[in-house]
Amino acid sequence: MESANLDMTNEKQEDTWISQLAGGLVHELKNPLSTIKMNLQLLEEEFMKPQNRKEERALKKIQTIINEMNELQNILDDFLRFSKSQTLECHPHSINKAVEEVLDFVEPEAFLNNIQIRKHFDPHLPLLAIDKNLLKQAVLNIVLNAIQAMPDGGELIVRTFANGNDYCIEITDTGYGIAKDKQDKIWEVYYSSKKKGTGLGLPTTMRIVKAHGGTIQLESEENKGTQFTIRLPKHRICKDHETLHSQG
Ligand SMILES: Nc1ncnc2c1ncn2[C@@H]1O[C@H](COP(=O)(O)OP(=O)(O)OP(=O)(O)O)[C@@H](O)[C@H]1O
Ligand SMILES: [Mg+2]
Repeated sequence: MESANLDMTNEKQEDTWISQLAGGLVHELKNPLSTIKMNLQLLEEEFMKPQNRKEERALKKIQTIINEMNELQNILDDFLRFSKSQTLECHPHSINKAVEEVLDFVEPEAFLNNIQIRKHFDPHLPLLAIDKNLLKQAVLNIVLNAIQAMPDGGELIVRTFANGNDYCIEITDTGYGIAKDKQDKIWEVYYSSKKKGTGLGLPTTMRIVKAHGGTIQLESEENKGTQFTIRLPKHRICKDHETLHSQG
């Protein structure tokens, strides 16, 4: 098993330090938050059968605070996931299998949203030295965005294939697309056009793919759809199931 820091360069050391500091702070915040939430839930139970208008109003307010607490916890969890993905642990894995597992996971949500999932996997791809869990997270973030971009249903087309020096995972949706002037912004930490988005999905994905020595390509047209292509370099092939060194 080999590990490598995602941020290897000197100029990134300060970033790493700041993200560790912020990660620590978020951790510290989570404990009192869950105590507050637990107490609010107990309070909610006490007011569950309101005796008068005043108690009814109190119950509503408690429930609003609980919802906001949940939102806050989600934001902190997203942040922790983002700041935590510091090391790669690479083993030989099938990228088809990793992608398939992501699609299995989102299938119920896609079904509910009237989205057809179409898979075109190249069955001859070799095993690659990847951190499967992190790569799955990278793909999941793109797939979730694709689903969220098709509120009225559509198609999610996922292909894997070899191309030149790369093995590719291509994720296409028929959603609302991304305007040209936003196509750079979407990679920025905390950029989100969604009411409940934290804007950490794509920066996390980019970080993970780069750590694997890969790249991501985006093509999108408004009201037509969006295509993300993750390219992983072929030099990550695992020969005879032997684990390769991560390229950091
Ligand atoms: N497939 C897509 N179709 C249309 N817009 C997209 C797509 N993928 C990403 N975007 C745009 O990029 C923005 C940033 O995406 P990102 O995943 O980083 O954050 P988010 O989805 O808003 O929030 P979250 O942190 O919950 O993922 C989105 O808010 C959206 O505007
Ligand atoms: Mg997202």
